Amino acid sequence: MTWLITGGAGYIGAHVARAMASAGERVVALDDMSTGIAGRLPADMPLVRGSFADRALMDRVLTEHAVSGVVHLAARKQVGESVEKPLLYYRDNVAGLTVLLEAVVAAGVRRFLFSSSAAVYGVPDVGLITEETPCSPINPYGETKLTGEWLVRATGRAHGISTACLRYFNVAGAAEPELSDTGVSNVIPMFFDRLTRGEAPRIFGDGYPTPDGTGVRDYIHVADLAEAHLAVARHLDARSPGGPEGGDLTVNIGRGEGVSVRELTTLVAEVTGHRVEPVVEPPRPGDAARAVASAARMTEELGWTARHGVREMVESAWEGWCLRHPEARAQ
Ligand code: WQD
Repeated sequence: MTWLITGGAGYIGAHVARAMASAGERVVALDDMSTGIAGRLPADMPLVRGSFADRALMDRVLTEHAVSGVVHLAARKQVGESVEKPLLYYRDNVAGLTVLLEAVVAAGVRRFLFSSSAAVYGVPDVGLITEETPCSPINPYGETKLTGEWLVRATGRAHGISTACLRYFNVAGAAEPELSDTGVSNVIPMFFDRLTRGEAPRIFGDGYPTPDGTGVRDYIHVADLAEAHLAVARHLDARSPGGPEGGDLTVNIGRGEGVSVRELTTLVAEVTGHRVEPVVEPPRPGDAARAVASAARMTEELGWTARHGVREMVESAWEGWCLRHPEARAQ
């Protein structure tokens, strides 16, 4: 199999590309380099620079590399930005996806893995979110991911493509410091950023109906997430060995374990040595009190389980942060 990984030079994409290549798959990365970094990928891995929404480029890449499966990760992913620029999100995450899928159909590609998000669920009031929990996104980002899932499934059914939608929960950590997330849009890098500037980490709300009053999330190590892609890719292969293609899989990728923001601040203080008392600020509009996955489907049907805990996520994220911000290390 040859896999095309869109967004392959990104934070998650590079982890997926490396994990799949290490497992013996042939991998071609595609990235428009808007946030991608070529150095995250092995020197001998082909990296095509361009957009998945460029039909002519996709036709050429899928054919020239004899691509048999696509892992589609390239997307816009910032909730706040999606509220301000919905058209940008629908254009790239939905309209762009239709172009990629048209190329996939035309080239006869038979496997498609789609990077979805827990954002499709919105703010469900349940203990554990299963794949059957109703989807009700509360921002344009989540809407585009849910629409993307519909597009992928419908295309798969109509054209005999095996598809999978992977709903990521809160991704964190790094397999190597060089592969770490360079963005400062999620809680762990936001804490590091504050501490590096000598400021207190902010807790957005401590009056939630959770054990310590702060928001609870399901954090998943990016290395485990990458292994989940490999498990799903293998599952799609095993399910239709030379037989009729098709079928779709929708899976949560989380650990099934909730960690509160308060617990995270304690861990971050221990790992970084910056023991700064956090400040409590008002809750962020649209934040759920709790969002924790049921990981049962991935475990029971695919035999995948997460191996890394939240301390390893914070430790590895911190190593990556300090590589780019050496001044951050506590004296
Ligand atoms: C986590 C928790 C905050 C910063 C978002 C998207 C989701 C997915 C992951 C892509 C919350 C709290 C945060 C801070 C805090 N993205 N927090 N102080 O909002 O769960 O999920 O990113 O697919 O779709 O919605 O992630 O990392 O922003 O926040 O208290 O300085 O940390 O309120 O409880 P979130 P996050």
